[in-house]
Amino acid sequence: MPLKITLLTVVALSALFGGVSGRELVEKRCGSCHMVSNPTIEQVKHMAAPPMWGVARHLKRNIPQRGEFVSFVADYIMEPAEEKIRFNKEAFRRFGLMPSMKGTVTDEEARLIAEYLYETY
Ligand code: HEC
Repeated sequence: MPLKITLLTVVALSALFGGVSGRELVEKRCGSCHMVSNPTIEQVKHMAAPPMWGVARHLKRNIPQRGEFVSFVADYIMEPAEEKIRFNKEAFRRFGLMPSMKGTVTDEEARLIAEYLYETY
């Protein structure tokens, strides 16, 4: 019984902090290329990738189902590939292919990030 309570607490706590660390992770791991806030005109010229909200919102329209969205994004973070692109080819042509975040982001973090993006945008 006490073990069960502990496990439930861990699950509840990680869900509670999921949102916070999700945002921090996006800022730290994705923000250098995908701006988290709205870029100014000057910033648009120097962007290395489309803004995070733009990517997430557009993708969500293409992949409305939560589980499918999360799996797609978590996978793309680790293994981006031209043939997987669901966002738009224009970004690919302008910025090139996103580098894999393997080694910087764990599988678990990738899922947290993907869930955060789905919930937020
Ligand atoms: C070094 C720059 C860079 C970093 C860091 C980066 N990305 Fe990207 N990302 C890109 C570029 C460039 C594209 C557009 C080309 C493409 O789709 O690969 C892109 C595209 C995407 C797409 C669209 C995929 C599709 O369907 O076309 C998603 C989703 C995405 N990034 C998520 C993330 C997340 C989440 C992170 C942080 C974990 C991240 N990216 C970090 C450069 C980056």
